[in-house]
Amino acid sequence: MIKETIVTTQNNSGLAHIAPMGIHANGDAIIIQPFRPSTTLNNLLESKTAVINYCDDVRVFAGCLTGRRDWPMTSAEKINGQVLQCTLAHTEVELVRIEDDSTRPKLFCKAVHTVNHAPFTGFNRAQYSVLEAAILISRLNRLPMEKIESEIDYLRIGLDKTAGDKELEAWAWLMAIIDNYKAEATL
Ligand SMILES: Cc1cc2nc3c(=O)[nH]c(=O)nc-3n(C[C@H](O)[C@H](O)[C@H](O)COP(=O)(O)O)c2cc1C
Repeated sequence: MIKETIVTTQNNSGLAHIAPMGIHANGDAIIIQPFRPSTTLNNLLESKTAVINYCDDVRVFAGCLTGRRDWPMTSAEKINGQVLQCTLAHTEVELVRIEDDSTRPKLFCKAVHTVNHAPFTGFNRAQYSVLEAAILISRLNRLPMEKIESEIDYLRIGLDKTAGDKELEAWAWLMAIIDNYKAEATL
């Protein structure tokens, strides 16, 4: 199963980096698959550690894709790393081995510590819409605009019916990116 999470890493100078990543989780075994080039990949190879944040504030996902990466963090407990303050839970992981690939290496990690911070309070369709829209934006220059627009129209249905303030804010950031991209394409 793939879970959409926020992965936080840091380089040897202690500079933290935050990125949405779909992780494969099977018990304590976790696989992270960053596309090259990737700061997450570089940091993991350097520090051999990462934090998986299970976060339902979709502004962090949309924020990372729209240049808003400055989310409050605190120190991890068992490894040298950073935890998102708004996360519902987090797992601290250590890199075990790498299956290298020129496009998308597989980083096999093991969970060393998990902490629950707040309860999961239920699924929300608008959160799904924001995550899917964020993925579309991460592929903006690889997908035809007609496909992006038709998928956004569909995702907007769940958003309009169920969004709260955070989801609406995240959605607006993502739509601004699409609008700018279209405006630049017609210049
Ligand atoms: C929900 C979601 C899941 C994503 N999963 C991945 C992933 O598994 N691997 C990846 O390379 N990028 C993924 N992305 C895109 C990255 O977050 C984005 O391109 C980021 O900048 C990765 O590069 P970095 O490590 O240099 O930050 C995902 C984006 C979203 C919104």
